Amino acid sequence: MEETAQTTMSDNQPARSAPAAAAVAPAVGKPLIEARDVKTYYPIYGGILRRRVGSVYAVDGVSLTINRGQTFGLVGESGCGKTTLGRTILRLEKATAGSVTMDGQDMLAMRGPALKRMRRRMQLIFQDPYGSLNPRMPISDIIGEGLLAQADADNGWRTRTIRDKRVGDYLEAVGLRRDYARRYPHEFSGGQRQRIGIARALALAPDFVVCDEPVSALDVSIQSQILNLLSDLRSEFNLTYLFIAHNLSVVQYFCDRIGVMYLGKLVEVATTDALYEKPLHPYSVALLSAIPVPDPRVRKKRLVLRGDVPSPANPPSGCRFHTRCWLREKLGNPEQCSTIDPPLRDMGGGQMAACHFAEQVTKQAAQEVASTQSVIEAATELPD
Ligand SMILES: Nc1ncnc2c1ncn2[C@@H]1O[C@H](COP(=O)(O)OP(=O)(O)OP(=O)(O)O)[C@@H](O)[C@H]1O
Ligand code: SF4
Ligand SMILES: [Mg+2]
Repeated sequence: MEETAQTTMSDNQPARSAPAAAAVAPAVGKPLIEARDVKTYYPIYGGILRRRVGSVYAVDGVSLTINRGQTFGLVGESGCGKTTLGRTILRLEKATAGSVTMDGQDMLAMRGPALKRMRRRMQLIFQDPYGSLNPRMPISDIIGEGLLAQADADNGWRTRTIRDKRVGDYLEAVGLRRDYARRYPHEFSGGQRQRIGIARALALAPDFVVCDEPVSALDVSIQSQILNLLSDLRSEFNLTYLFIAHNLSVVQYFCDRIGVMYLGKLVEVATTDALYEKPLHPYSVALLSAIPVPDPRVRKKRLVLRGDVPSPANPPSGCRFHTRCWLREKLGNPEQCSTIDPPLRDMGGGQMAACHFAEQVTKQAAQEVASTQSVIEAATELPD
């Protein structure tokens, strides 16, 4: 996505004059968020007595580390548990098991004032910029609401004028005019509304922000503006992001490391370069092959994943991906794929993959399978 390299602003969006960043910038590169074996299960109730009859294993044993100042991308098909994982880390969902620490502090054990202080340091940017803004409130109140909830004697946010000044500062920081604070959400375009959502999150001066598909609902032309804005704000305010997306085309130029998620588990974790250069899990290979090629003259064979993602209430035995795995088929359906759950293995260079046969995941193997599937992108139909 070449356009991510340029920042474009519409005429009514003046140059940003950012509020002062934190006086002492904390060390970049040290772990900020560490999740260990996080599980989030939702109960399923049934029968006349509404007894618990099962669970949705939305997140089922995820461990990851996000270093300060970095962006960790989380990618996977719909329903694989990305939002649930992000919300569990933020303590917006209750973890069934596991631990999450921020700067070494156990977040899942926090209560009362300590939890309130911690909440300010972690914010969420939503996918749907319109649905997440109360249509009856002016922007000053939408952004000011969070400030009021976190007001204390030190920050003075209980005072309206101090709050309003901060709202104006952060509207400018995201490329909007200060006087937009008086307007209502319906008066803005989709891209502007997402800027307001970003201002609302950043006004609380967080360290860690979960961006849950922040550009999926926007036009392609606007997507790159918002990605550039998030990238600039990351440097300006020393932010650390968990960036959720459902395909790999958005995250390539934005993330330092990427975790590929399938049915509640991470199946591969790698630096962005390593993942795009040499993916080591068959699922990652399939997601990468689904990225559209912008040049209609380029012929590209695609690996097609058959069927839908199975239900997380009843995940397949052994490797959860085995019902759709092209490599398993190519290898003659080895038994261990359907009987033994492969752990995430260190494959060297910080790359980890959860596949018994990760060593056999090569471009050549993928191309051979794609050829036999004989599915070629529609682009092939176009004349050279
Ligand atoms: N509150 C809930 N109660 C029961 N099941 C839930 C709840 N929230 C999510 N789920 C289920 O958990 C699974 C994971 O959902 P989640 O929203 O985390 O997936 P996702 O990867 O973010 O998907 P998408 O790309 O569509 O946003 C899904 O099967 C979903 O139906
Ligand atoms: S363990 Fe088997 S089914 Fe799972 S990804 Fe590897 S080859 Fe495919
Ligand atoms: Mg989601």
